[in-house]
Amino acid sequence: MMKNFLPTAAVLAAGSLLWGGLSSEPASAKNRKIAPVITENVDFVAQQVQLMVDTMDTFKNIPSPRTLNEKGQLAFTTLDDWTSGFFPGTLWYLYELTGDSKWLKPAVHYTEGMERIKYYRGNHDIGFMIFCSFGNGLRLTEKEPYKEVIVTAARTLSERYRPGAGVIQSWPQWRGWDCPVIIDNMMNLELLFEATRMSGDSSFWKIATSHADQTMKHHYRPDMSCYHVVDYDSKTGEVRSRVTAQGYADSSAWARGQAWGLYGYTLCYRYTHDPKYLKQAEDIAKFIFTNKNLPEDLIPYWDYDVPNIEREPRDASAAAVTASALYELSTYVGRKQGKMYKKLADRIVETLGSPAYRAELGENGYFVLMHSTGNKPGPSEVDVPLVYADYYFLEALKRKRDLENK
Ligand code: GLY
Repeated sequence: MMKNFLPTAAVLAAGSLLWGGLSSEPASAKNRKIAPVITENVDFVAQQVQLMVDTMDTFKNIPSPRTLNEKGQLAFTTLDDWTSGFFPGTLWYLYELTGDSKWLKPAVHYTEGMERIKYYRGNHDIGFMIFCSFGNGLRLTEKEPYKEVIVTAARTLSERYRPGAGVIQSWPQWRGWDCPVIIDNMMNLELLFEATRMSGDSSFWKIATSHADQTMKHHYRPDMSCYHVVDYDSKTGEVRSRVTAQGYADSSAWARGQAWGLYGYTLCYRYTHDPKYLKQAEDIAKFIFTNKNLPEDLIPYWDYDVPNIEREPRDASAAAVTASALYELSTYVGRKQGKMYKKLADRIVETLGSPAYRAELGENGYFVLMHSTGNKPGPSEVDVPLVYADYYFLEALKRKRDLENK
């Protein structure tokens, strides 16, 4: 018989909001074991992001920094964009990692300014948007009203659940699709798991596990790479097509997609303790780290299968997401395997914090990392800074700190 992995009272009570809730104690209050790579990078990020905050505060409305424009200037997007939660999320991580209360005001300001997004129905991205902002805010301040925002957002996301296919529909019915689901959607499940814990409503949890199970079945190839887009018949659940939108080819392994999958299945294991999710995450890690096209510095090219790969741009955002996921994964496996995952994550963090990937102070539109690729086939955002690369880099630093200072 299938083991029931619905939340038990013990699972609901255990742990805390977001992995890495291991400790929300500010860095300054910790002992002296904090690795120089953490303190040096956090100090730099704090200085760089302060410059961005100073710029942002000159606007009356709430802009959302995303990347650079063609002139090399800071480019903003609207709060309806999938990336809008990353800037507030970055401010929360700085508040946590520096222990400096000066970050609280902007973190609250840019988080609360996006409250209306709890009703966002344009696509599935509400998980990224609300959880990076309000989720981190709740974890660090225990502001009760943030719970309502998170649960409402989970209800909004649940409207995209298609019971016939057992998945959350990612995008509208463009390009002749009926029910397109992209691998990125795994990241939205965190919002649903937490909403069940906060509200006691297990429907969010059931949707999350159904989506994870269907994605495991239909997105993954025998080599454990994944497709970017799977289009389902929303009524029968039959797969209509498997294609790409941001990758090199339908059959290729788009780098950030592999990272979303790794992170997504790791978080599914965090909540459910279902070993099939752990195995999935480990198998994805194996695909990434045994790939012949992964460069020595562990920062992938934007797609693992693009021809003439050495001439192609990297995607530092994929590496940052991978490092953050690996720190968490390292805590769920045996000692030897855990050490290996942590070592890989450490190497990625070292590389991202080196001059090869980290910008100079005051440069790069005040973003931290260079060399990310948003959508090469677009083409858009090729070899640029991206707000989410910075967010996951900082999250990786926080997870490393918590692991090493337990
Ligand atoms: N979720 C959109 C992306 O990864 O580009």
